[in-house]
Amino acid sequence: MYRDLAEKRVFDDQLPEFFQPHMTVLEVGCGSGRWTGWLAERCKHVVALDLSPEMVALAQETVPNENITWHAGTVLELDPDWSFDSVYLSGCLQYMSAELISEMFSWIKTSISTDCQLVTRDTVSMLNTGFHRNERYSNNDPAIYRTVEEYQDLLRPYQWDLSQSWQTYLPPRLGWLMRTLPSAWVRNWEQRELNTVTSRIRQVNFSQGNGDKKHCFFLYRQE
Ligand SMILES: C[S@@+](CC[C@H](N)C(=O)[O-])C[C@H]1O[C@@H](n2cnc3c(N)ncnc32)[C@H](O)[C@@H]1O
Repeated sequence: MYRDLAEKRVFDDQLPEFFQPHMTVLEVGCGSGRWTGWLAERCKHVVALDLSPEMVALAQETVPNENITWHAGTVLELDPDWSFDSVYLSGCLQYMSAELISEMFSWIKTSISTDCQLVTRDTVSMLNTGFHRNERYSNNDPAIYRTVEEYQDLLRPYQWDLSQSWQTYLPPRLGWLMRTLPSAWVRNWEQRELNTVTSRIRQVNFSQGNGDKKHCFFLYRQE
């Protein structure tokens, strides 16, 4: 809840022009629709897809906006006549192989407007190389945390040029304490923290990370 609010606040503050009322947006890997309704409120139309039919069904139930076309499957199955003004992927590239990413971006290339922008929300490796999550963490999550450079190498052949990046949010340091406090007090604190946090975040300096991964937004423009 905190992360969701914080990320959306950061996005609105950092890049208000990315989603505009005249735009048709492609959202790949919509999951349960965490971003889909938010996108639909800001844009003319959203095409939201996910590989998992269960996720799409859940999203359809929870996100009521009428300006959304849902699809269970991959981008390769979409109608090639779409012309997208923005493309958004949140937490999705990390579950895709390099081959799948290439396939997807070659399809996307043929279905975008000339000034289309791409935003991804990725967990990136802060180490010298990318790594598979389960090499360093105990659960079985198959995510691949690539470096920023690895993502640039994957996207460059499709003329996507990284132009801006910023951290998704700064997690509150006292999470354990917040869980013991009354929820009304916590909500109030979250609002105040959000205001402070979002005014502090600017372009990320990747060398300042203190862990092995970081959650960031990346804005790519067409070269
Ligand atoms: C971590 S979830 C992120 C969900 C949502 N975008 C969010 O930020 O909360 C990643 C989603 O990507 C979907 N996914 C993985 N590979 C995909 C692919 N090749 N095409 C479409 N969706 C994919 C998964 O099914 C999953 O729902």
